[in-house]
Amino acid sequence: MTATDIIRLTLSQRIMRRVKRAAGGWGVFVQGFIEHPVMVGSIIPSSRFTIRKMLAPVKWDECALFVEYGPGVGTFCRPVLDHLRRDGKLIVIDTNPLYIDYLKATISDSRFAAVLGSAADVEAIVKAQGYDHADYVLSGLPFSTLPDGVGPAIAAATHRVLRPGGAFLVYQFSAKARDFMARHFRRIDAGFEWRNVLPCQLFWGWKE
Ligand SMILES: C[S@@+](CC[C@H](N)C(=O)[O-])C[C@H]1O[C@@H](n2cnc3c(N)ncnc32)[C@H](O)[C@@H]1O
Repeated sequence: MTATDIIRLTLSQRIMRRVKRAAGGWGVFVQGFIEHPVMVGSIIPSSRFTIRKMLAPVKWDECALFVEYGPGVGTFCRPVLDHLRRDGKLIVIDTNPLYIDYLKATISDSRFAAVLGSAADVEAIVKAQGYDHADYVLSGLPFSTLPDGVGPAIAAATHRVLRPGGAFLVYQFSAKARDFMARHFRRIDAGFEWRNVLPCQLFWGWKE
């Protein structure tokens, strides 16, 4: 690498840092999308309407462990922490180190753990945090664009990790996730939120 290359690289890193600082979470989210469009699947975080509707059926007093897949820059994290019991725990799992680093830097709450990894490994991750089961699992994963086999593996692992009576909460632009959920969850409630970019499907799969 020449001296000019090093200067250029340093400058572009500085510019990127400034953009991130100016744009906050949005800037980080967009950067993640530009770097990994297929894994992120959306250029705009979920709306407050989607968050409210998705979380409405959660019984917070019965929730000791809430797990979230694909938190991105944490659009759902604050609302979940606002509702969560004092002795509750929120574990978020994302494959993108940019997002995990951002969450660790911006959310300081002893009930919060951000883990770099795949949702397919949820059972090991939950165990490593000292829990046997999750009460609720929320997913913002782009199921339609995940690599072959990953969606079904995640749905199966989620069903195993949930306690009876717990639920798998899923929001997605397409209904693809429902196909994977239906293999394990007999009762799936469905909803729709149009005040989101793009409007999205909502599913609640209940473990018997
Ligand atoms: C559409 S974004 C979700 C954004 C955010 N939850 C929201 O509501 O605005 C999808 C997220 O899933 C993450 N992701 C993709 N595949 C994953 C996997 N196998 N395990 C965990 N996270 C994954 C991406 O890195 C990205 O953060």
